[in-house]
Amino acid sequence: MAIIIDGKKTAQEIRAKLKIRVEKLREKGITPGLSVTLVGENAASKVYVSSKDAAAREIGMSSWTHKFPSDVSEIELREHLRCQNSDPAVHGILLQLPLPSHLPEEHLLNLIAAEKDVDGFHPVSLGNLMLGRPGFKPCTPWGVQVLLNRYGISTRGKHVVIVGRSNIVGKPLANLFMQKGEGADATVTVCHSATPDLAQFTRQADIVVAAIGCAEFIRGDMVKDGVVVVDVGINRVEDSSSPKGYRLCGDVHFSSVEPKASAITPVPGGVGPMTIAMLLANTVWSAESKTGISGPIDLF
Ligand code: GUN
Repeated sequence: MAIIIDGKKTAQEIRAKLKIRVEKLREKGITPGLSVTLVGENAASKVYVSSKDAAAREIGMSSWTHKFPSDVSEIELREHLRCQNSDPAVHGILLQLPLPSHLPEEHLLNLIAAEKDVDGFHPVSLGNLMLGRPGFKPCTPWGVQVLLNRYGISTRGKHVVIVGRSNIVGKPLANLFMQKGEGADATVTVCHSATPDLAQFTRQADIVVAAIGCAEFIRGDMVKDGVVVVDVGINRVEDSSSPKGYRLCGDVHFSSVEPKASAITPVPGGVGPMTIAMLLANTVWSAESKTGISGPIDLF
């Protein structure tokens, strides 16, 4: 029987630690502030954004959600992001993705001031990550790293196979795990849609991270006994027996993989809550750096 890695509980523990740091900042007259921008009517994005807002407020931070219609012009959005960049009450800026197709995602993300890039998507943040320097780490990859560490699962010398090469998860996670030091020191393989015989790689893995965006893609016959499995996927699949008409599932076929695994993250309740906790951690760190308390946040 695999250990079920409880991301919900771990994220709660991290938020409790952060709450204390927020209280200390507020005693100094600084309230960490998170500005979130949501464009359009994407149902999943609306849920994520309201969860981020609630989590920020719950630990005593300020949080603003700026909503724009899906036909907002690029010029208006640029002007809005410039305002957020220059607002001293805002320590972190997040532009919720995906954006409607007429908006240039990469250009807009690059407009966010690097010192407020709490999503960790800016080229400066990603450059620092690749070089092993301090900086904002992308929230989901950092959440995966912290989750494994807090469960005592070492990556040192392990073969980590990441399935998926997105800029948000696969690429930054590979960079995090290949660094020197605690929570890293892994041998990393990145597989993707052009990898022939992908299962040949996942079967060699000590740790598999599924971040491919394809429901229940990783199946029991694709992993070895004792593997640790991290499921980053959140997919909505039709289910007429559910009142909502759909159910959530990950990129891992849980019922066939779990019996072979030594530890596995569930969906929901695995990586998802960690992403939000790390977003708060980045925002607290950003606010702290304004006060001279600039040490990295140690959540291991
Ligand atoms: N859309 C899905 N996940 C994320 C995230 O972590 N950050 C942003 N900005 N958009 C997302």
